[in-house]
Amino acid sequence: MSKRPVPSTDFYESNTNIKWIVLVISVLISAGSIYYTNVLVDQLKKRERQQVELFARALEYTANSTSESSSDINFIAQEIVYQNTSIPIILLDGGSGAIVNYRNIKVNENWKKERREEFLQKELNRMKSNYDPIEVPLRDPETSETFGINYVYYRNSFLLTQLITYPFIQLSVIAIFGFIAYLAFNYSKVAEQNRVWVGLAKETAHQLGTPLSSLMAWVEVLRDDPNIKNKEIVTELEKDITKLTIVTERFSSIGSVPSLKPENVVALVNNVVNYLRPRISSKIKIEIFTLSENIQAMIHTPLFEWVLENLCKNAVDAIGTSGTIAIKILRGSDNKVYIDVSDTGKGIPRSKVNMVFRPGFTTKKRGWGLGLALAKRIIEAYHNGRIFVKASEESQGTTFRIALNTISAEKLQAN
Ligand SMILES: Nc1ncnc2c1ncn2[C@@H]1O[C@H](COP(=O)(O)OP(=O)(O)OP(=O)(O)O)[C@@H](O)[C@H]1O
Ligand SMILES: [Mg+2]
Repeated sequence: MSKRPVPSTDFYESNTNIKWIVLVISVLISAGSIYYTNVLVDQLKKRERQQVELFARALEYTANSTSESSSDINFIAQEIVYQNTSIPIILLDGGSGAIVNYRNIKVNENWKKERREEFLQKELNRMKSNYDPIEVPLRDPETSETFGINYVYYRNSFLLTQLITYPFIQLSVIAIFGFIAYLAFNYSKVAEQNRVWVGLAKETAHQLGTPLSSLMAWVEVLRDDPNIKNKEIVTELEKDITKLTIVTERFSSIGSVPSLKPENVVALVNNVVNYLRPRISSKIKIEIFTLSENIQAMIHTPLFEWVLENLCKNAVDAIGTSGTIAIKILRGSDNKVYIDVSDTGKGIPRSKVNMVFRPGFTTKKRGWGLGLALAKRIIEAYHNGRIFVKASEESQGTTFRIALNTISAEKLQAN
């Protein structure tokens, strides 16, 4: 077991790095796209202002010119004044404040006069808040004396408005698409992982089955053999076969949909602890705390025992030489039972707390990083419960909490 093909801590670090790089690049692309559009918008704004100024000058010229230059006026009127078909404009009389004329504003001809005026006034207020007006002085053609002033108000053309909102719409569409693609990718990844988990477990159980039944037959042969005097060996062999049978059962249960039954959690915890006690250092104590000897929850026994074993083994590893493992069983409100497994071990660094349940995450030389991933799967997918790090303090210890249901999901729904 020299090489571990399972991803370790480095894998998750490089994975988070890739996520950051992708995020930074996306932000840069978005910022670049918005900046470039802003440059275009500024240029177009300047051009539109020039167009409106030209329009104002043309108006000034036509209003103030003498009758001799009427052919010029016609030319100017047609070429400039009517050329602008996109920028909404309102011409205001500076003296009375009345709207003299307007262009490129969609006013319904069927509206009543008041309605039309109200509409134009609203447009005007919008324009006033956008840009300063351009003045058109009115002069007497004969004396060149100024006798009044008109104001040209305008706002952005439809094209310019579209250009301003375009990058935001474009980026939102890309973001939504990216999010959906991410979800779809994640979903197929999870589905694939599930198939691997289930397939591998089923195959293991299947492969273990054949030698196991043959071993059982051999034990029977040995028991009846008069040449074997020391029958203790046979008893020990039987114990190991029982354990192997349990392991096979665990693997086969994870490969199918296990049915949950009401079980006494206290008794199950006692079973696991009794199994573990002779197998761990005598300097590590295991204590069980409970207010009642019978606390029921919906459980699949072989799988649940597997979880407890994994949690206790991790606790033993975290403790090292000597310490205590405390298992508390509590009946909670809302049809829940809590099992807290605490140790006095080295604790989990805050930055790693979120990673411990990921498959392949391990800090141990000979670890596979599968114990907690399996525990999470068993508790959440098979028991509809929850498992999480309730508390952890470096060099003080860790508490894992399992929450199980006291009644089945179907009954809960029926209630
Ligand atoms: N009680 C605990 N105290 C401190 N650290 C823990 C504890 N339980 C788990 N960890 C940390 O979480 C990691 C993942 O645990 P997990 O049981 O999934 O894998 P493992 O124990 O490393 O390997 P194995 O597959 O053999 O169980 C451990 O390597 C360890 O760093
Ligand atoms: Mg482990």
